[in-house]
Amino acid sequence: MNVILLGAPGAGKGTQAEIISQKLGIPTISTGNILREAVKNGTETGLKAKAFMDAGALVPDEVIVGIVKERVARDDCKNGFILDGMPRTIPQAQALVDQNVPIDKVISIEIADQVIEERMTGRRACAACGATYHITANPPKAEGVCDACGGELTIRKDDAPETVRNRLKVFHEETEPLKAFYEAMGIVTTVEGNQPIENATKDILAALEN
Ligand code: AP5
Ligand code: MG
Ligand code: ZN
Repeated sequence: MNVILLGAPGAGKGTQAEIISQKLGIPTISTGNILREAVKNGTETGLKAKAFMDAGALVPDEVIVGIVKERVARDDCKNGFILDGMPRTIPQAQALVDQNVPIDKVISIEIADQVIEERMTGRRACAACGATYHITANPPKAEGVCDACGGELTIRKDDAPETVRNRLKVFHEETEPLKAFYEAMGIVTTVEGNQPIENATKDILAALEN
């Protein structure tokens, strides 16, 4: 099953993708994590992406489309995958169609902008594996240390309040129209993002079983 998690920054896409990936045994493809890794390693892609990410703007479509095309072709995706943070524009969604990458379900995780700003200030991300935590809603077992890999937890540079506001603006302009794009295919389920993590997981799993 090929799944897209759609939603604003901070809606919980990464958090839910990690849980669902474990439960279904299919990989998560997070373009945000792939790009952050590329920036950290100073690769050509990373050098292209860094300024856009720091500003809370979108990285150009052709960069993203290239990354995802290569990633979904790998062996571990043959039983399905979860796309977290891609597509984010109509041309990216169209590229999946053109490349014959079928999508079975789109989960739209929805939440008000005010709740998001508050969530972002408490987010911590593992510098090594990308796992996501929140200082109150989803704390790690030991402060500052990743449960999954022991890596160091850091604050994402683009979680500064001003950058978050820009990411929200970009979301409303560029990404929100994707819901209608996929509704026309009849594959969208809306899930409430402003509820405890495990309740959102239940709703998503129920949607995927239908
Ligand atoms: P990306 O990394 O994808 O960031 P984003 O979409 O802005 O989303 P976030 O990762 O901020 O939020 P999330 O929905 O994953 O929430 P999370 O689970 O962490 O992209 C970063 C940048 O890369 C972009 O700005 C762009 O520059 C570039 N990029 C990436 N993909 C691109 C593409 N396709 N095209 C162009 N550019 C691209 O949760 C947030 C916090 O809330 C956490 O602390 C979490 O613990 C907590 N939380 C989660 N769920 C709950 C809950 N139910 N209750 C309470 N707290 C919760
Ligand atoms: Mg994320
Ligand atoms: Zn980790």
